[in-house]
Order: sequence, then C-alpha cells, then structure tokens
Amino acid sequence: SCISTKEKNIVLIGFMGAGKTTIGKLVAEKLSRDFVDIDEEIEREFQIPTTEIFKQYGENYFRKKEKEVIEKYCKEKMKIISVGGGAFLQKEVRDICLIECTVFFLDLSWDAWKDRISLLIDSRPVLQGKSMDEIKALFYNRQSIYEKNHYKVLTDNLNPEEAANSIIHLLQ
Ligand code: S3P
Repeated sequence: SCISTKEKNIVLIGFMGAGKTTIGKLVAEKLSRDFVDIDEEIEREFQIPTTEIFKQYGENYFRKKEKEVIEKYCKEKMKIISVGGGAFLQKEVRDICLIECTVFFLDLSWDAWKDRISLLIDSRPVLQGKSMDEIKALFYNRQSIYEKNHYKVLTDNLNPEEAANSIIHLLQ
C-alpha cells in the first residue's frame, strides 16, 4: 500500500495479559493518536463481556466478529490497535494486519507471565477449565504464531512506559 510508516496503524499482538491495552494506550498518548481495543469494541456492540459472548454465542462466532472489527479498523489510518491474544490464529487477520499495519509482538517469558494468571482467569474464557500444563502448552503454541512478525519487544524487564518508548523508538 502507499501509506508511509508514519500514517500506518500500529497493531499490538501477544498473549493475554502481555500488556497490549496498557502499553497501546501509552503509545497512543505519546504519539497523539487514537487508541482502539478490539475486545472493547466487540463488548460494546454486544453489551456483555467476552466471557459471556463465548458462553452464549460460542468461540467461532466471537472469532468471526473479531475479524470483522479488525478489518474495519485496519482500513483506517494512524490508529493504535490492540487485538486479542487469539486474533492472529486467523490467517485472514494476520494477512490484513501485516499488509495494512505495522505489527508489534509484545513478548513475555512464561516465567514472567505465569504469575499473572490469577488476575486473568475470571475474564479470559480461553484459560478457564485448563490445567497449568495445558495453559503452558497454549502459551508456547501461541508464541510460535506471534513470532512470525517484524517487530518484537520483550517486556519481561520493562514497565509499560519503557515498553511504549521502545515501540516508538523502533518506528523511527
Ligand atoms: C483471547 C484473548 C482475549 C480475548 C478473548 C480470547 C485469546 O484478549 O480476545 O478472551 O484467545 O487469547 P486479550 O489478549 O486482550 O486477553
């Protein structure tokens, strides 16, 4: 496409609880751009939390909606977009994001992530009913999907402010 890096949307990907929303908001603030959280957009449309959408409509329906909302925002410019941890499971989502946007993978080691699980479990349907081993397998499976991108920021030793600054630095 013919838009410059400066005008391109920025998409943040990574596992649940990697800080996509927190860091995305900071990047948006620092660059004076609009921030969009795809899960929030979906929840606003349905007027219920994602856990309820999964329960009432099923994961496939959620994924379909997720893809539609991401496609809509990818067509815009200058947005900072945080997508859910499962969004990149869909090839069409990966393709549109990688073509239309600059994608950053917020990487986090398993050891750093596993302590956050209790904060996430109630609001993340994908984690519910799984053993620690199953969650660990999910974590590593997902990592291999996220890895296939240009930019990666390892956030293990960074606070959100520092992570946002490294994203901005990589853009220049
Ligand atoms: C999901 C991640 C969640 C949300 C939904 C499914 C996943 O987003 O989209 O619960 O499959 O990894 P976060 O990555 O923001 O937690």
